[in-house]
Amino acid sequence: MTRESWHTRLGFILAAVGSAVGLGNVWRFPWMTAENGGSAFLVVYLAIVLLVGVPGLLAEFVIGRRSNRNPAGAMFRLSSGSKSWGMVGLFGVVTAVVLLSFYSVVGGWIVRYFLSSFIGSYHAAPAAYFSGIDFGIGAAFYHVVFLSLTAFIVVGGVRDGIEKATKVMMPLILLLLGALAVWATSQPGAGAGLEFYLNFDAAYLQNNFFDVLGAAAGQALFTLSLGVGTMITYASYLGDDNDLALDGSIIAVLNTGVGVLAGLVVFPLLFATLGELSGTAAKGGAGALFISLAGAFSQVPFGTVLSVLFFGVITLAALSSSISMLEIPVAYLVDEHDMERRNATLGLAGLILFTGSANALNPALFDFVASTLVDLMLTTGLVGFLVFAGWVLGKDALSEFSAGAGRSRAIGPAWLWSIRTVLPVFLAGTLLVNLLALAGFSVGDLLAFVVP
Ligand code: ALA
Repeated sequence: MTRESWHTRLGFILAAVGSAVGLGNVWRFPWMTAENGGSAFLVVYLAIVLLVGVPGLLAEFVIGRRSNRNPAGAMFRLSSGSKSWGMVGLFGVVTAVVLLSFYSVVGGWIVRYFLSSFIGSYHAAPAAYFSGIDFGIGAAFYHVVFLSLTAFIVVGGVRDGIEKATKVMMPLILLLLGALAVWATSQPGAGAGLEFYLNFDAAYLQNNFFDVLGAAAGQALFTLSLGVGTMITYASYLGDDNDLALDGSIIAVLNTGVGVLAGLVVFPLLFATLGELSGTAAKGGAGALFISLAGAFSQVPFGTVLSVLFFGVITLAALSSSISMLEIPVAYLVDEHDMERRNATLGLAGLILFTGSANALNPALFDFVASTLVDLMLTTGLVGFLVFAGWVLGKDALSEFSAGAGRSRAIGPAWLWSIRTVLPVFLAGTLLVNLLALAGFSVGDLLAFVVP
């Protein structure tokens, strides 16, 4: 059976941007920025995207394109049959299932808000509406609706499913979000929102440096879909003529642009309507986006049209990411177990129907998976991919990086050096900080213990 491939370079770039652009940009990024020192966080985040995100993206691209395989098959084959490296790749495949199991629940909320926007069901009591739908049978039902949409696109295949869908979705997302940002920033009172969002709080950064660093690193990985093998899988459908460094940079720039744009919609809108952020809105998180924005939309002229557009954009963004998550285990079953794409997709959707429903029915499980487990798994996965590309592939990684490259070839050696040394060490450090936090300790506690 011939393996599938992208039809055009633009198709690949849009699909990868689609994978990156998702709930991470529209929901997580603006809140992380506002909660972690405004533009001080933004500066740290941009530095991490540039210095860790882009090299990590390129490491995944190199592994994928060199092997033309899913993460598990890629690492097994490229290491001449090492079962241990195969297991590292398989860890990515499992992470994808875990990730989609919570992502699909949030996707379900969004589909429900999109539909409710037409009749304004949440206008009267936004907070009560959210707490009535967030978990339980209804949430499980909408998770299944979102999962079915995801599976429908993935069954179509790489060219006719993913590429065609993202080619329509991505320009639509950029256009609608851009229009919403222009509208939101021109509302009276929007200036206070921009100030809150982009306020440079250097003192905050100084006092909370490690927290900000950990938050920015986690956000950079989540938003670029790194550490799970999405970019390995998408690059495995590439030919040799793409300039990986150039394509990777375009993807990172577009992804960051959408995050910043989303903040330009969310904060001006909230301040223009609610005046200030308090209660749930100030705490951030899933509830904050839904409750505060739903409240804001109920107060502005043409709120129904605007909310349909807004939740429509988020539905598309979430779908263009969820298809990339499902594609990882699908590619694994197709490549390694000779399954038909259709059967693999349906079988996995059946599995995630159960694992996702467990998250939809159990808020404590959902919280743990969404805020802690996924971050830990993504960081661990990316450390594995970097070490693999840097040390196992080594010089071969460099020649794969250079194939199809133009001037970007010049940065190849620096890239290889970084993925061999500083980046895995840095990520292992953030992993340690997160594990310490999980155990109830801070970096300060550790330092006090080591340096009495
Ligand atoms: N990269 C995806 C997002 O940001 C997972 O939502």
